[in-house]
Amino acid sequence: MTASLEDLPLRDDLRGLAPYGAPQAPLPVALNVNENTHPVPQEVADDILDAIAIALREVNRYPDREFTALREGFADYLGHGLTADQIWAANGSNEVLQHLLQAFAGPGRTAFGFAPTYSMYPLLTRATGATWVAGVRGADFTIDAQDAASQISAASPDVVFLCAPNNPTGTPLTLDVIEAAYDATDGIVIVDEAYQEFAPHGTPSAVTLLPGRERLVVSRTMSKAFAFAGARVGYLAADPAVIDALRLVRLPYHLSALTQAAASAALRHASTMMRMVDDIREQRDRISATVEALGYRPYESWTNFVLFGGVEDPASTWKALYDRGVLIRDVGIPYHLRVTAGTADETTAFLDALASVGSAS
Ligand SMILES: Cc1ncc(COP(=O)(O)O)c(C=O)c1O
Repeated sequence: MTASLEDLPLRDDLRGLAPYGAPQAPLPVALNVNENTHPVPQEVADDILDAIAIALREVNRYPDREFTALREGFADYLGHGLTADQIWAANGSNEVLQHLLQAFAGPGRTAFGFAPTYSMYPLLTRATGATWVAGVRGADFTIDAQDAASQISAASPDVVFLCAPNNPTGTPLTLDVIEAAYDATDGIVIVDEAYQEFAPHGTPSAVTLLPGRERLVVSRTMSKAFAFAGARVGYLAADPAVIDALRLVRLPYHLSALTQAAASAALRHASTMMRMVDDIREQRDRISATVEALGYRPYESWTNFVLFGGVEDPASTWKALYDRGVLIRDVGIPYHLRVTAGTADETTAFLDALASVGSAS
């Protein structure tokens, strides 16, 4: 006989919660979790393999606890005069966010975000013992500066999440909203730029707002633009004092030597990877144009995915696509579905399958 969760002395505040659960299914076309579906180019993969081979020779030792070379790599990549002491990294930006919540949220505290937004924010918040507070977005899932500021000052949270651009809607977020949000709170403001590289060229990053704002944090990931979801590497830029706070909660040696070596090597190929990002952007725009022609309503997206409305019965459309070998995501917004931009072939497979499923509502 096996036990169930109810039989265990689980923390009271975790009772009844559901874990993160995007379906994993071995379908030929998987466009459901906003991965970069393009394989890492051969020359980049070769360089990464060489770097891992060198790191492996010293894997009997603990890795550099301060992942110095990698932090320098991220500072160079982000630019804007950032230095390594303003950088932190962890196993995926999920862990970066977890470190932030461990340091700045926790029991008796609150974290706030504008729903619908990244589904892990409430889960990570609750796992630290803090309370999640959901704000609301305007029409088309946008947020304006004044409304953001008044919702944040009314909620008075300890941590604010601003997902820029937003998952699962793709919605851009302008810097004036971030400035207004920052001025409306004494808490930590996290701008999650997981998809920033997919924004139009020249879009300013929240990194440009860091000088003079010691409570502002800009989080990034290698999972998307760098096609590194399986390697688990996320990072952030902030005031060095924030980085000191994160040292209080991280596990010693949390970033393996192999991860550090692989990520540093991949970063050296940023320009190659950004060419791939351009290709993905093209597929994303093709999806938007084609689903619109099919009668659905795509939302403006600055990410590697498209949310589209006008889906009469999302569960049955999702299943019909599944039966045609295409996995996309029902994110729980009524009449909407979300699809990740794939390679040209995967994108064609999705668009053909959607066309064959029938018309929009
Ligand atoms: C907005 C956002 N932030 C963070 C993440 C986490 O990415 P990772 O932990 O792979 O870096 C995701 C993943 O989909 C995301 O959509």
